[in-house]
Amino acid sequence: MKNKKILVTGAAGFIGSNLVEYLLKDNHVVGVDNLSNGIMKNIKDFQSSSSFSFSKIDVKETELLKREMEGVDVVFHLSANADVRKGFDDSKIDFRENVQATHSVLEAMRSKDVKELVFSSTSAVYGNAEVIPTPEIYGPLKPISHYGASKLAAEAFIFSFSSNYGFKSSIFRFANVVGRKGTHGAIHDFIQKLAKNRSVLDVLGDGTQTKSYIYVDDCVKGIVELHGKEDGLFNLGTRGRTSVTQIAELTVSSYSPGAKINFLGGPGGAGWNGDIKFMGLDITKAFRNGWRYELDSTEAVKKAIADAGASQ
Ligand SMILES: NC(=O)c1ccc[n+]([C@@H]2O[C@H](COP(=O)([O-])OP(=O)(O)OC[C@H]3O[C@@H](n4cnc5c(N)ncnc54)[C@H](O)[C@@H]3O)[C@@H](O)[C@H]2O)c1
Repeated sequence: MKNKKILVTGAAGFIGSNLVEYLLKDNHVVGVDNLSNGIMKNIKDFQSSSSFSFSKIDVKETELLKREMEGVDVVFHLSANADVRKGFDDSKIDFRENVQATHSVLEAMRSKDVKELVFSSTSAVYGNAEVIPTPEIYGPLKPISHYGASKLAAEAFIFSFSSNYGFKSSIFRFANVVGRKGTHGAIHDFIQKLAKNRSVLDVLGDGTQTKSYIYVDDCVKGIVELHGKEDGLFNLGTRGRTSVTQIAELTVSSYSPGAKINFLGGPGGAGWNGDIKFMGLDITKAFRNGWRYELDSTEAVKKAIADAGASQ
């Protein structure tokens, strides 16, 4: 991808800011974020670049968003409520930030004749899949969290806008993404907890939850390399999987060796309502199209733990 004008929503967030850094090598980037979870520190290094501009706006404000769409070639839509657990207490947040927000992005694109969208979806759309690794064609899709449901609804709107208005769209269903600037997920939680209590780490679930993790650089490279290929629907993860017990042990050994790991249990041994206990993605399609990851699941986790230490 070269010499494009690209709008990135969620630009000040974890994956968004890593994506902006990658895209800025060869493109002009317009970043937007309402800073509900993202932080300016994540994008401070790019602000002196003449190829980067940033606007603090809420993507649900369609009229404001339209102004940012002038001359844009491609939109990478990453803004969302990305915290699965939040939706349990506030059942509207995923609808608002993931469905309504995506609809607003699509409307703004339509009105400014922007023809290409790249969307960050999630393995959570599969729910408790009976086939693991789960391929893109798996169904019926029965999400078990409002987050998964909202991403699936957003995907559906992207398909319908593509079909009705001639949009080109690519949808990536990510495994758990970890690494530099991470703001949520098990590693982040464990480090926060160990900072408060160095002798005991409380872990949600029974520890046997086992999922696929992908390092953020591999994820960003994947969406840039694969967008627009085949039918545009791709799983993005790694072939290995890592258990919550492994993550807890690795985090303890880096941050507070000797701390006791205390499993709190949870619904069916999962961490919380909506937590998918076993997740792995079939990434044959991404591989067929030439993408490769550098770090496997547990290597990605180890590097993310080291990154978090380096940033403290
Ligand atoms: N991190 C993961 O493991 C993971 C896995 C699967 C999918 N995803 C998806 O990838 C995308 C990025 O996730 P992330 O982990 O970087 O999360 P993040 O919370 O760090 O980034 C999301 C960004 O969107 C911004 N935002 C939220 N609502 C907004 C709004 N209405 N208007 C403007 N900005 C808004 C937030 O301030 C934040 O900076 C999300 O769509 C998420 O659902 C992430």
